[in-house]
Amino acid sequence: KKLLSIAIDGPAGAGKSTVAKQVAERLSFIYIDTGAMYRALTYKALSLGADLNDGIALESVLQTTQIELVKTETGQAVYLDGKDVSEAIRSAEVTNNVSFVARQKEVRIEMVKRQQQLAESGGVVMDGRDIGTHVMPNAELKIFLIASVDERARRRYEENLAKGFPADFELLKSEISLRDKRDSEREAAPLRKAEDAIELDTTSMTIEEVVSSILNFAEERA
Ligand code: C5P
Repeated sequence: KKLLSIAIDGPAGAGKSTVAKQVAERLSFIYIDTGAMYRALTYKALSLGADLNDGIALESVLQTTQIELVKTETGQAVYLDGKDVSEAIRSAEVTNNVSFVARQKEVRIEMVKRQQQLAESGGVVMDGRDIGTHVMPNAELKIFLIASVDERARRRYEENLAKGFPADFELLKSEISLRDKRDSEREAAPLRKAEDAIELDTTSMTIEEVVSSILNFAEERA
């Protein structure tokens, strides 16, 4: 019997990757972080000085770009053309530019193709913005995670402090809002809840509560 495919979408900082990673771990499924793929391309485009508004140019960069998601003890590492860029793709520069790259339809066509190949055999938890609507429209379980923007900024703030990164709550909040606006208002596969997705508001939920609630839904559908 084919294993389940689980799609997890939602705005920035709603806890998608933390939750998706744990759900995958508990089910022994593969976790696929599609945001990391857009981040890796953005990182490369920035270092090449490419025009982030030129979809055709970006797509041609992508054609000769290898992006690998590798499972590690602590989560997932991202390799760009054989080099570990796991940390580099989380920089503020990449974070604040990734929506420009991700809005290009030429880029999305190729990324979706790669993501669908990775998900081919089922047994995957994939997180992103368009997973339930475009990448895995037939996923057996679709979750749309939301949380208030204050809560999302607060989580990011705590995360940054813990890592010893500079953290400015108001700045984080405005960056998150701006990225959501760009991701929701773009023409190509905007951030949107799939009609058949289950919406979970995690504002006052713990990570464990979110994870176990998703595992319950998964069990119902297995
Ligand atoms: O999930 P994460 O915050 O790392 O995603 C980074 C960016 O990549 C998003 O803000 C969005 O612009 C883009 N993205 C996307 N479609 C996906 C995943 C991410 O457009 N499936």
